[in-house]
Formats: sequence, C-alpha cells, structure tokens
Amino acid sequence: MTKIAVIVGSLRAESVNKRLAQNLERLAPAGTTFEYTDIASLPLFNEELEGNYPAQAQAMKDVVAAADAILFVTPEYNHSYTGVLKNAIDWGSRPWGNNSWADKPTGIVGATISPNGTKFAQAALASIIEWFKSPLYVDQKVQLSVTENTFDSEGNLKDEFLDGAKSYIEGFVAWVNDNPSTPAE
Ligand SMILES: Cc1cc2nc3c(=O)[nH]c(=O)nc-3n(C[C@H](O)[C@H](O)[C@H](O)COP(=O)(O)O)c2cc1C
Repeated sequence: MTKIAVIVGSLRAESVNKRLAQNLERLAPAGTTFEYTDIASLPLFNEELEGNYPAQAQAMKDVVAAADAILFVTPEYNHSYTGVLKNAIDWGSRPWGNNSWADKPTGIVGATISPNGTKFAQAALASIIEWFKSPLYVDQKVQLSVTENTFDSEGNLKDEFLDGAKSYIEGFVAWVNDNPSTPAE
C-alpha cells in the first residue's frame, strides 16, 4: 500500500490541476491511495497564530505525516506557483522544528493553459523541496499545457495524454517504494 498526500495548489472548483490529480489517481498502480489535503480552509499564515496552532493546519499536517510521499499538483501564477500553495507550505513547515514537508519523497506535476506547462512554477517549487532536503522525483515531469482538447467531457485525459500521465505515476510510486520516508520529527 502506498499512501500519497496530494496538495492541489488551486481553490477553483473547475481547476485543471484538480482534474489532473484525479486522473493520476485513476491511473495509479493498484494499492496506491491519494489523500487530498484541504488547503482552502487554512487561515493566512501569521506567526502570531502559531501559539494557538489552527486545527485546519494540524489536519493537513496529519495527512502528510501519515503518507509515504507527497505529490504537489501546481498551477502557474505569474511564473511561479500560487499564493494559496505557499500559504499551505508555510503552515506545514511550522511549528519550528516540526516541518511536515522535510525528508518525504516528493513529486511535482502541474497544469496550465500556457504552452510552457508550469515549468516556472515547478522550478520554483523544486527549490523549496531542495531546501527541505526532501528527495524529489525528477526522472519525469508532467507539465501539462491544457487546451480544450486535453480532457474529455467527463474530465478524463484524452488518449494522447494518458501514456505520459500513467508512466509518471507508475514511475513515481515505484520510486517512492524505493525511498521510504523518514519521519520529519
Ligand atoms: C493571477 C494569475 C496569473 C497567471 N499566470 C500564469 C503564468 O505565469 N503562467 C501560466 O502558464 N499561466 C498563468 N495563469 C493561467 C493559469 O495557468 C490558469 O488560470 C490555470 O487554469 C490555473 O490552474 P487551475 O485551473 O488549476 O486553477 C495565470 C492565472 C492567474 C489567475
């Protein structure tokens, strides 16, 4: 059983990144579970709130702590990842000395409407993963440039995108199983 904590960096109901995550979940090898974190309910990070650490942030940390790996599914905003994702990362990195993102096998994928396919967002996120000293899956990346032809009417990836997505998630899960996570504490 491989448990993956999934962080989708968009709050949009019709998010293409949410759709991408759901497709990767569907294509994942048997025995893989996706545990979605709720980043929408997190307050804006403020160090003054840390003393009374918010229940929503603790719930997110609990999902990440129980997972074997982390998968960030990121949109690209202004050549970086989104503010809501950074807010979630900041909460998860606290309290000091209890960084939920540290030492966990991590993957990054993303979808955007531009031809660049989230490469700037993914690079910015990768630099934080490096800072956290977490192993990053870099063998293959999914940088999806979404057009009206990417998903069918049910939200499933069309055939031409399936192989890339399937081989990413299969490779990621195999790599995670070769890189067991060490507890952050
Ligand atoms: C504030 C803002 C900035 C954006 N900047 C970029 C960008 O730099 N590069 C890019 O590829 N797309 C950019 N976009 C377009 C997003 O890729 C597009 O809105 C995408 O659908 C967001 O992902 P989501 O559907 O998962 O919410 C931007 C969108 C917004 C709202």
